[in-house]
Amino acid sequence: MKAHDAMYTGGRWRSSVSTESIAVVNPADERIIAEVPAGNAEDVDAAVRAAREAFPAWAATPQARRAALLGAVRDALAARQDEIAETVTAELGAPPGFARAVHAALPVAVAGSYAELAAGYSFEERIGNSTVLLEPVGVVGAITPWNYPLHQVVAKAAPALAAGCTVVLKPAENTPLTAQLFAEAVDEAGVPAGVFNLVTGLGPVAGAALAAHQDVDLVSFTGSTAVGRRIGAIAGGAVKRVALELGGKSANVILPGADLARAVREGVANVMSNSGQTCSAWTRMLVHRDRYEEAVELAKEAVAAYPPGERIGPVVSARQWERVRGYIDKGVAEGARLVAGGPEAPRDRGYYVSPTVFADVTPEMTIAQEEIFGPVVALLPYEDTEDALRIANGTVYGLGGAVWAADDAEAVAFARRMDTGQVHINGGRFNPLAPFGGYKQSGVGRELGPHGLAEYLQTKSLQF
Ligand code: NAI
Ligand code: MG
Repeated sequence: MKAHDAMYTGGRWRSSVSTESIAVVNPADERIIAEVPAGNAEDVDAAVRAAREAFPAWAATPQARRAALLGAVRDALAARQDEIAETVTAELGAPPGFARAVHAALPVAVAGSYAELAAGYSFEERIGNSTVLLEPVGVVGAITPWNYPLHQVVAKAAPALAAGCTVVLKPAENTPLTAQLFAEAVDEAGVPAGVFNLVTGLGPVAGAALAAHQDVDLVSFTGSTAVGRRIGAIAGGAVKRVALELGGKSANVILPGADLARAVREGVANVMSNSGQTCSAWTRMLVHRDRYEEAVELAKEAVAAYPPGERIGPVVSARQWERVRGYIDKGVAEGARLVAGGPEAPRDRGYYVSPTVFADVTPEMTIAQEEIFGPVVALLPYEDTEDALRIANGTVYGLGGAVWAADDAEAVAFARRMDTGQVHINGGRFNPLAPFGGYKQSGVGRELGPHGLAEYLQTKSLQF
């Protein structure tokens, strides 16, 4: 695979100060496909300086011009969709069809949405005798995970640029090649030098240096709760803005009047998608006791449609593979009933996990409380609606969710009582403009659409 042995800073690819490198592994065959530099604190500092220098001019650039440049970024991404999909398949292991339909296509839609929002957004408000100016926060440090390698980058960089901020990105060490493609698209689009900068590197080195840098005004992080907590503490100590998009353990609540077959099939599909590596995945399926065994059978049938290596790829790394299989072992040890899948590797090569269904899961089990981040669904029975609500709200997380009922009104009534940032009503589609983010320990702040743009603004009131 093509890779730059360089960082993208100040509008050019430049050699890193660090001489260390990161080997990028294809999780489908465990082969090394490329190497990229593992940046250190000096590399981060150079990128932050470039972003700081570029900030005043970019903040003062008319919004129509920023919008046009974001439109050009969108077009550059659209023109490279095949290359993006191939790269995501190579470094994440996503099946080609899913890589094209989601990993390559969704970022084009999101970048396009910010080109439009940047053009039409109102950066000024009147309140009584005041004019409120909505001004860019400054230099943004973006730290992204590997699960949606391009989407996670675009969901931070596009709104930051639309707002007039400049950006330093530290992408996940597992998927730096897709991030390099994004930097190429930004460069091709003619975004001014220093407005967007890329430093590849390890989390505890480059990520930590970026989060702690005194000249970074806002840190936007997506990843594990453990790292997010630390970044939140560092940002709090430095009194800088922070946005955290962390884990989830979302509930798929199937109420008695729902179309059970569809709800189970789509619920299983939701977890199998991206090998279960989705923070908002509906990993807990809640079914009324009366139809529970029927749902277990349906889930068992549904999961059989995901042969590893065909419709479902591997998980990203050996580490994640161990981690996911550890959770499956734990489910068995704590007494859940294994209905499909299990800890054994389904193929002798690659980090594949068998699509797994657990029944008789109780709310306090580890597999009902902790984020597994693999193709594992837990079916929990409930007694009545109040019980379903208690179970749904009974984790530290609150990111996504779904409710299926006889009609939308009944589903909405339940969704209003859920402690979570998003709920899909009777199979409603993902909306790339809807605010995305967590209640409780799933995070702070929102991404996507106008709410995502507002994260990168600060207000100044002028009194007349
Ligand atoms: P992670 O939180 O370690 O990695 C996410 C990003 O943070 C990467 O860019 C990484 O380099 C960076 N990072 C790591 N340590 C850092 C530090 N000390 N300071 C600054 N940046 C740092 O996530 P990891 O280890 O790859 O995955 C572990 C678990 O996290 C997964 O099993 C899953 O449960 C959760 N996760 C959640 C995601 C989400 O979308 N919310 C995405 C990825 C992982
Ligand atoms: Mg980690």
